[in-house]
Amino acid sequence: MAIATYTLEQFVRDLRRITTETPDAREVISRVRPLARDLALAREGWLTPKHYGTDAAQGFGAHLLHEDADHTLAVMAVAWVPGHGAPPHNHGTWAVVAGVDGPETNVFWKRLDDGSRPGYAEIEKQGSKVFDAGDVVSFLPDSIHSVLNETDRVTVSLHIYGKHLNYTGRSQFDPAKKTETPFLLKFER
Ligand SMILES: [Fe+2]
Repeated sequence: MAIATYTLEQFVRDLRRITTETPDAREVISRVRPLARDLALAREGWLTPKHYGTDAAQGFGAHLLHEDADHTLAVMAVAWVPGHGAPPHNHGTWAVVAGVDGPETNVFWKRLDDGSRPGYAEIEKQGSKVFDAGDVVSFLPDSIHSVLNETDRVTVSLHIYGKHLNYTGRSQFDPAKKTETPFLLKFER
């Protein structure tokens, strides 16, 4: 019952309280995960048809639901193009993702090199998992994953980041070319 009434505003207040109480990314993640699930399952309160809008060139559409004035605590609805997704990337901040509508495949990668060569990166696939509505996946700032919508319709997930991804200096990776390059997000408000 509490889940049905949990709102975006309450969620943002909870995010502010948690991140004020602890600077530790692991603790923040463990406390945010159940709340992200609650908000994802209370989608009637915040999800609108526009959040299903995608950007074909990017492989997904990112819709900013909230960020604080200093770009911290970014909350986004991300809509995934059928058959497409996001290349391997990190976030440069903690990240919690909760499924909202439809299954999405997350692939987890491990970095093999020490990062000392600018623009160079060797990454290796570690495994994958399909996440559906109410399932939660989380990442430390340096964790690398890729996402694929293997269904034939647009899927939506709820993404929460310690800081808006265009302000973290995060990277995308090409495992075949062994490159690391900046990864900026095209998003809508
Ligand atoms: Fe991601």
